[in-house]
Amino acid sequence: MATLGVNIDHVATIRQARRTVEPDPVWAAALAELGGADAITVHLREDRRHIQDRDLEVLRRTVQVKLNLEAAIAPEMIEIACRVRPDQVTLVPERREEITTEGGLDVAGHRAGTATAIKRLRDAGIAVSLFIDAEPRQIELAAELGAAAVELHTGRYADATDDKIRDQRLVDLATGGRLVRDHGLALAAGHGLTYRNVVPVARIERMGELNIGHSIVARAVLVGFSQAVREMKALIGG
Ligand code: PXP
Repeated sequence: MATLGVNIDHVATIRQARRTVEPDPVWAAALAELGGADAITVHLREDRRHIQDRDLEVLRRTVQVKLNLEAAIAPEMIEIACRVRPDQVTLVPERREEITTEGGLDVAGHRAGTATAIKRLRDAGIAVSLFIDAEPRQIELAAELGAAAVELHTGRYADATDDKIRDQRLVDLATGGRLVRDHGLALAAGHGLTYRNVVPVARIERMGELNIGHSIVARAVLVGFSQAVREMKALIGG
């Protein structure tokens, strides 16, 4: 049974559309917890397009389940993380021009920066997860650099329109997942997961946490936040 991390970035996206105070992602986090969320995830982006520094600080004081901060390996972000002390930091790639995170972190291509970020976070007592593609080289490096967990990028699985290609990408995720576990790391997955495509990913052997944002917030607009979280929880735990 996989656990559910609810990404509440897009509650802040709605607020920032008007640069006002509502809806407050802090309210959404509380409702997500009431709906059964096992973790609350936020991405503090360099351009502050949705989550703001204040959100992270208030969430640190109010979230009672695991608080997972997604952040780039940039020194500014690592410094904020070390000060606010979320339970976990998931290191992600970040490009200003992207609509959302487009792929996994290229650990091999950013080895020194990733190693420095992991060390600083670990020294501060914060568990580190790396958001990477299900590629053996990236997974092996994650283990070598001392990450505690890997979140496999499910975007390519979610984007596949052809059944055969989708099935192949699921196999790649399962194979990558096995390698993550065999290295003794916790296994998570996320990006692009929806109420329609989540079940096969939740059933991957030894899957730990699924991080889901857009689809839950989209449903929450219509059915309410706790209800949307409850429905997703029932799917991944079934
Ligand atoms: N996991 C990571 C590392 C992400 O960057 C995101 C998007 O912020 C998600 C999961 C959630 O993706 P989605 O909003 O498509 O569910």
